Amino acid sequence: MYASHHSSLLLTLQTVTLIPGDGIGPEISTAVMRIFEAAQVPIQWDERNVTAIQGPGGNWMIPPNTKESMDRNKIGLKGPLKTPVAAGHPSMNLLLRKTFDLYANVRPCMSIEGYKTPYTDVDLVTIRENTEGEYSGIEHVIVDGVVQSIKLITEDASERIAKYAFEYAVNNQRSSVTAVHKANIMRMSDGLFLRKCREAAENYKDIKFTEMYLDTVCLNMVQDPTQFDVLVMPNLYGDILSDLCAGLIGGLGVTPSGNIGTNGVAIFESVHGTAPDIAGADLANPTALLLSAVMMLRHMGLHAHAQRIQTACFNTIQDKRVLTKDLGGNAKCSEFTAAICERVQDLD
Ligand code: IPM
Ligand code: MN
Repeated sequence: MYASHHSSLLLTLQTVTLIPGDGIGPEISTAVMRIFEAAQVPIQWDERNVTAIQGPGGNWMIPPNTKESMDRNKIGLKGPLKTPVAAGHPSMNLLLRKTFDLYANVRPCMSIEGYKTPYTDVDLVTIRENTEGEYSGIEHVIVDGVVQSIKLITEDASERIAKYAFEYAVNNQRSSVTAVHKANIMRMSDGLFLRKCREAAENYKDIKFTEMYLDTVCLNMVQDPTQFDVLVMPNLYGDILSDLCAGLIGGLGVTPSGNIGTNGVAIFESVHGTAPDIAGADLANPTALLLSAVMMLRHMGLHAHAQRIQTACFNTIQDKRVLTKDLGGNAKCSEFTAAICERVQDLD
């Protein structure tokens, strides 16, 4: 009895692959690790790097030991990765999504009380198809001066993202899903995407389904974002619209993101850049990575820890006494982190 009880306790200590990333990545990762320690989150970290490696056939890949770590642990947390435009290799962010078939990109945008923006009460989630569309990377020169880029839309990928969006709505007490498209122009590709969303909607009668053109969504979004709930869309639309939505609540520095894949694999990430100008200066804001880590805890079923850390983070921001520069204060990253740690412990 005792032995099995004990071993089940040990088994509940899950391992998460941590990819600190470039620039401010290591600092904000350290911040998250400190806060997790203060909150006594039952996980341990397996730290890995992601640099571009060229395989035998010339194909770009992530380092094998990072791939093995993710295959084993299934769950990852990652800071920003730099991709110089002229690097000669694809974006590591995209390579990670491709390698682990992370087909759903989920970005919740919630107004943060005490952090003033022109908008209040924003509470929506963009769900972006993350594997194909305009990001398929199929481009070629037809003749000199004419290039073609292929937007790939498949039935399978559209069906699984549509289903994911409705499942997300059901599991997160959300009441509506809006499919965002331009099927009036891209009749076949967006037409297929939209059809799959309509079909999925048939199976979720309790969730209100609407379809809207992307341009209309943009217009309505900046006029009154509170009318939106869950939005589902193809890859590039999701990339752009999720940035727009992040802007409503204060930017990429406070917006979390999760990439959900098949077989239980998921990577949570901050979407902001590596901020090389302030890297190493203890000035970075760890909020986006921390809130992504909170999403990760919910995904892992660690709801109490997630809630406590989120509350500590929001309360620290609301309190306004210890804030990083970008949030309007003059505290160091480590001071802001310490303030959150203190609150986490008080919430015990
Ligand atoms: C994002 C980013 C990436 C994208 C870049 C870094 C490749 O902007 O996650 O939204 O375009 O998808
Ligand atoms: Mn983006």
